[in-house]
Amino acid sequence: MKLLPVAALSNAFCLALLFLHTESTQPPFSCDSENPQVLSFPFCQTKLPIRKRVQDLVSRLTLDEKISQLVNSAPAIPRLGLSPYEWWSEALHGVSGYGHGVSFDGSIGHVTSFPQVLLTAATFDSRLWYRIGQATGIEARAVYNAGQAKGMTFWTPNINIFRDPRWGRGQETPGEDPLVAGNYAVAFVRGIQGDSFQGGKLNNGHLQASACCKHFTAYDLDNWNGVMRYGFDAQVTQQDLADTYQPPFRSCVKDGRASGIMCAYNRVNGVPNCADYNLLTKTARREWGFHGYITSDCDAVAAIYDVHKYTKSPEETVADVLKAGMDVDCGSFLKNYTKSAVQQKKLPESEIDRALHNLFEVQMRLGLFNGNPNKQHFGNIGPNHVCTQEHQELALEAARNGIVLLKNSAKLLPLSKNKITSLAVIGPNGNNAYALLGNYEGRPCKSVEIFKALQSYVTNTKFHPGCNAVDCTSVAIDDAVNTAKGADYVVLVMGLDQTQETEDRDRLYLTLPGQQESLVTAVTEAADKPVILVLVCGGPVDVSFAKYNPKIGSILWAGYPGESGGIALAEIIFGDHNPGGKLPVTWYPKNFIRVPMTDMRMRPEPSSGYPGRTYRFYNGEKVFEFGHGLSYSAYKYKFVSSTPNTIYLNQLLNSPTSTESSNSLRTLSVSDMGEDICEKAKFSAVVGIENSGEVSGRHPVLLFARPITPSERSPLKQLVGFQSVSLNSGERTELEFVISPCEHLSTATEDGLMVIEEGYKYLMLEDEEHPINIVI
Ligand SMILES: *[C@@H]1O[C@H](CO)[C@@H](O)[C@H](O)[C@H]1NC(C)=O
Repeated sequence: MKLLPVAALSNAFCLALLFLHTESTQPPFSCDSENPQVLSFPFCQTKLPIRKRVQDLVSRLTLDEKISQLVNSAPAIPRLGLSPYEWWSEALHGVSGYGHGVSFDGSIGHVTSFPQVLLTAATFDSRLWYRIGQATGIEARAVYNAGQAKGMTFWTPNINIFRDPRWGRGQETPGEDPLVAGNYAVAFVRGIQGDSFQGGKLNNGHLQASACCKHFTAYDLDNWNGVMRYGFDAQVTQQDLADTYQPPFRSCVKDGRASGIMCAYNRVNGVPNCADYNLLTKTARREWGFHGYITSDCDAVAAIYDVHKYTKSPEETVADVLKAGMDVDCGSFLKNYTKSAVQQKKLPESEIDRALHNLFEVQMRLGLFNGNPNKQHFGNIGPNHVCTQEHQELALEAARNGIVLLKNSAKLLPLSKNKITSLAVIGPNGNNAYALLGNYEGRPCKSVEIFKALQSYVTNTKFHPGCNAVDCTSVAIDDAVNTAKGADYVVLVMGLDQTQETEDRDRLYLTLPGQQESLVTAVTEAADKPVILVLVCGGPVDVSFAKYNPKIGSILWAGYPGESGGIALAEIIFGDHNPGGKLPVTWYPKNFIRVPMTDMRMRPEPSSGYPGRTYRFYNGEKVFEFGHGLSYSAYKYKFVSSTPNTIYLNQLLNSPTSTESSNSLRTLSVSDMGEDICEKAKFSAVVGIENSGEVSGRHPVLLFARPITPSERSPLKQLVGFQSVSLNSGERTELEFVISPCEHLSTATEDGLMVIEEGYKYLMLEDEEHPINIVI
């Protein structure tokens, strides 16, 4: 009797699904053959140049229709056959359901969930980043083709410098180094947009999916101690802008050819980013050649008026953002106030047309005005291209190669698969697959808890969470100790989750939350053998207590390792994979919190005890260094003799443009040198690298430069190149690093001018150093 209603219900449910499904199989697009009256208009003619088509389209719109298109949820314009368009979709580490564009209700219910970006960055492998971008772009197009995306503009990647360890969104970024962030941006954007890894454009300018470099610029504070991102006025020096905050965006635009930029909530030196003509138009469009659309962060335009109180009237805000070069408002402010801004003559209609040109151009490059997209470029990408074995393998590979072995005393790891009969897994992150995804997640192809993955190696594995939750306001030490006792080995799975660090939530402390530390210490005391500590977290935690505790034999940083992260971690613990990841951020001691998060300065100020930030400038104690990461093998490096010792920049210049600087070092201005001479100035550093250990492995090689006598302006050291290489035990290879003095060996003056200083520097690989003398 009971079964009947359930069956009836589930039938109704199926019908409802079917109905929804048929409704949604058609992706939104314009120039549909169901609107034959528009097909003869130039904007629908695919053979015409896009610029001409856009001009035609904009010329046909009324003022009200134009204004309707200036917000993220742009409505249909039926008389011209224009479908509605949603600008806001997300795909930080795989397609995501955040934003308003994508739905997982339909024939595609799951997508590949790659590791959260910070862990992927730890691979220091640009080709892997490119492949993740590619896979994400393919899955995005599949979701669109299946009728489950209302747009194809994805607000990814987040390439703000991870400047402060407390930042809740640091997990979303490629870390603290500008070169890494820039290279990540280029690789990921090219992948997702359907471009080639290097060099030429593919697909004739058509976009597989549109990427967006965010958040432009100097945004890396969400909500700290009552300071909110919506009203924050970041005080940033020209020097720090030039060599830290801006370079990733310049790379994303110039080399990544991103088709989108998002302006950030905050002000920089008093001016809200979305109202900054110098930033959006002069720098991005003119100087860097940006070709695409600029969106506001969501409600950032309203915040200019309501929170920053930057203008006297809403209409002035409208005029400011459109004149600055912003094109679309994520929100409703432009919908509400643009008409009155025009009527009050604060805004010429031509500014609206300018924005619409950028917006429709991107939609056209996406193919959305080419008739049925299933018959166009990328039209054959369907549900069978999502969660493919290849994409899932890639998610696993990224987790494997990203996870960082921070400590491994007495070679505790890897554990021997055959000798171990029992295992205890303790900790609040030990049995939660969802927590492994990080924020901006999609609905993953698979879910595997760390506990389950370890159990697949040792059947007799027991689990106890130890804490009530990750905040660990209460602990069950006795129960956890009992679970640990008698097990051959203990794996503690601690760290953070989105209740501790996420969008709109920065941390106040750098220690493990609540009573996690007490739990670790108690379980460690009770265990027979040294324990393994796994940290699931984005931002760094001060685990000095564990670093110096001999009974904590090994520490692993797993980031938020994505849908296959549990498997990757188990493989590393049991030696089926040799870890090679390296930290993409500095791990600061807990007393770093004495530094206000609002202080944007990168460089230290000794007189006030300000320590500076990131490995490039921070001069204080560290828990673990940027670039730290151990292996089960050992590697030897050697600079090959062909690496030059002297770089004669003077010989490249027709007329010397060198200037004397205050400390009497001669310098050359990079912009004076020009792109041709910068190109000629490049040289190769060649390094021999040998796997001198017993295990094969993939291993990133990080090449730094440091001045022998640092001037006030120069970083302590600077990453100038990185490559990931696979070597078998005993194998040796040579790697070439192309070094551009203009890009890699320059420093910023106080005025924000990039200059090359004469004199000696060292190139550094681990303990190996190679001197080079720059002659100007
Ligand atoms: C725009 O107007 C609508 C309707 O009156 C209102 O709900 C919304 O809050 C307004 N948005 C802004 C940003 O002022």
